[in-house]
Amino acid sequence: MSKSIVINNKTYPIDVADDMPLLWFLRDKLELTGTKFGCGMGLCGACTVLLDGQAVRACVMPVSALTNKSITTIEGLSATGDHPLQKAWVANNVPQCGYCQAGQIMNAAGFLATNKTPTSEDIDTAMQGNICRCGTYQRIKQAVSDAAAVMNQDMYKEVK
Ligand code: FES
Repeated sequence: MSKSIVINNKTYPIDVADDMPLLWFLRDKLELTGTKFGCGMGLCGACTVLLDGQAVRACVMPVSALTNKSITTIEGLSATGDHPLQKAWVANNVPQCGYCQAGQIMNAAGFLATNKTPTSEDIDTAMQGNICRCGTYQRIKQAVSDAAAVMNQDMYKEVK
């Protein structure tokens, strides 16, 4: 039986070499180039995507090991680019060169799914593995905090 993978809610056959990293599958095969190549060793976070909702590094993950798994990339975070994190990124003018920022946002998305009311230290700990060569860390932190607040308000509206 052929293997398949779900990416941004669409199913794709895994018809590449077994050892192809998910990152190359996304970028070269599907032309989803929002996910970036940084270090290639799972250390910098530029290639962060969500695997069944959890932040993972796509450069060190063979796509063949992800049969029937669900991946979300920056392109799939929101159909219209208006996820609270994306809005907070714009409002805080976070990016500088921008290269790391999709990975930063995806890492933050995975984190906020597990911690709805993060403290300042929680954000530091969650985001410390995502490197930004431009040093935009303070703005990233503010944007994560702002997005968490907005997401909580939205949640409150939903249960009312
Ligand atoms: Fe340039 Fe982060 S904005 S690496």
